[in-house]
Amino acid sequence: MEWWKQTSIYQIYPWSFQDSNGDGIGDLQGILGRLDQIQDLGVETIWFSPFYQSPGQDFGYDISDYTSIDPRFGTMETCDRLINEIHKRKMKVVLDMVMNHTSDKHPWFLESKSSKESSKRDFYIWRKGKNKKPNNWISMVGTPGWNYDKSTDEFYYSNFLSFQPDLNYRNPKVKKEMFGVLDFWLKKGVDGFRLDIFNSIYKDESFKDNPFSFRFFPTPDNHDEAFFQKKQYNLNLPESFQFAKEVRKHISKYKQKPFLVGEVSGSDSVLKSFLGEKADGLNLVFQFELIHFEYKSKFFIDLLEKNEREFPAPFTPTYVLGNHDQRRYIDRLGGDLRKAKVLSAFQFLARGIPVVYYGDEIGRQEGRISNFLGKDPIAKMNRFVPLFLSNLLGIYINRDNCRLPMLWDDSNEAGFTTGKSWLPVGKFKISDTVSGQKKKENSLWNHYRSLFHLRKGNSVIKEGNLETKSSSHSDVLCFERKLKEKVVVVYLNFGEENGKESIPKGSKLLYQFGGAEVKGGDLQLVGHSGAVFEFGLRK
Ligand code: GLC
Repeated sequence: MEWWKQTSIYQIYPWSFQDSNGDGIGDLQGILGRLDQIQDLGVETIWFSPFYQSPGQDFGYDISDYTSIDPRFGTMETCDRLINEIHKRKMKVVLDMVMNHTSDKHPWFLESKSSKESSKRDFYIWRKGKNKKPNNWISMVGTPGWNYDKSTDEFYYSNFLSFQPDLNYRNPKVKKEMFGVLDFWLKKGVDGFRLDIFNSIYKDESFKDNPFSFRFFPTPDNHDEAFFQKKQYNLNLPESFQFAKEVRKHISKYKQKPFLVGEVSGSDSVLKSFLGEKADGLNLVFQFELIHFEYKSKFFIDLLEKNEREFPAPFTPTYVLGNHDQRRYIDRLGGDLRKAKVLSAFQFLARGIPVVYYGDEIGRQEGRISNFLGKDPIAKMNRFVPLFLSNLLGIYINRDNCRLPMLWDDSNEAGFTTGKSWLPVGKFKISDTVSGQKKKENSLWNHYRSLFHLRKGNSVIKEGNLETKSSSHSDVLCFERKLKEKVVVVYLNFGEENGKESIPKGSKLLYQFGGAEVKGGDLQLVGHSGAVFEFGLRK
């Protein structure tokens, strides 16, 4: 089975992971210094949010040069070393690739904007407006997608923020340039790309108005209908599905067998279109259902069954609990570490790829920075919306709050920097840090470490198929993974009440947590505990 179908992904947000030069911003040298610890945790693939040259208005998701490193983070030489050192530790590297748009400071855009006759004019999407916007398209963040440029008296299109103009993939020169960028990094040996808002790559050629929808708020897994619009003409176009196949084909020739994981959103049928009918599109797509979990066994059973039905092998589901755009899951659990253990065990033991956001392994808490004081451009745009109101409505506005620095130890700024951190570290105890949790056997960090290593060393968990099973208590989720003659069975108790399960004869206990215990052939599951067994099938 291909390596990327079995891996686990750990996301590093470079701004906040580890600073090495005291400027309060994380950097590549800092990450280098933490690689041994990441390896020890058991991580298999590291995905880096962007560290390319960027004005930083969207913290790196506004790129002004795709093949150079932003000086905030270091140099190309350090980057080469980082890739090399990761590989030496038998881990893989995935880079974030923002193909949809550049920064408005990118030389292509500056040139494009300079005149209607510019050789780069058609690198972006320009339209005449006659004092009004070319059509009604709304961006993914709810702002009008068209931006007026006075000097050439035309509008350019941006499906995110106005300083992130969308590239025009109907121009073959744009494709060629971007494939060149992919080649540049693939030749350096990177193992894959996370494709930023890939669902937005193509816009409809007709430029027709989007139809009306009753829906206002988007959710992490559905942007198709939002802000009273059905995004029929500016999201999820058939050309984007086709382009997924083209990019896959392009990267497939590299010997490291790289993969693509798309940040796309939409119904399962949309996700499947990105993956391709013959599994020949994006290798993986992020599936965000876990982001708005309901902490009830029923939710997880339904999710597993749905994924097995909709994404059976050769497709590989992904289980994403958080990222740099979403409220941290620990916050949604009210900080309950017992529940965090159950949830993360689910994520690692299901058939698919667990995607872990840095800090989730220590239960890193959310910040409480108001929208008014946010550095995040989305927060700035909504600065007058009080935090309690956005929380109440369930809309995540100030993404600074999930991007706070990693908590390493109890030295200055939790060991993140010797200077002053770019975002406040906030209050914490030693038991909230990596160093504090390493020393405590039943800490969340040690639980994650066990899960990473358990998966890594067990081919049934990595490759086996999945079937949900009935259990003795409705709060207990039970499922089996099977590969050839071996079965792994998982019990997770999502309730407060005790559960009791009879374990299959001849089972070997692989892992237990939260107070689960085997007593005489039974498994006693106290509230929020779990256990994993393995047994062989007799012929
Ligand atoms: C993606 C990124 C987000 C960024 C946006 C625009 O959703 O995850 O952080 O702001 O795209 O590039």
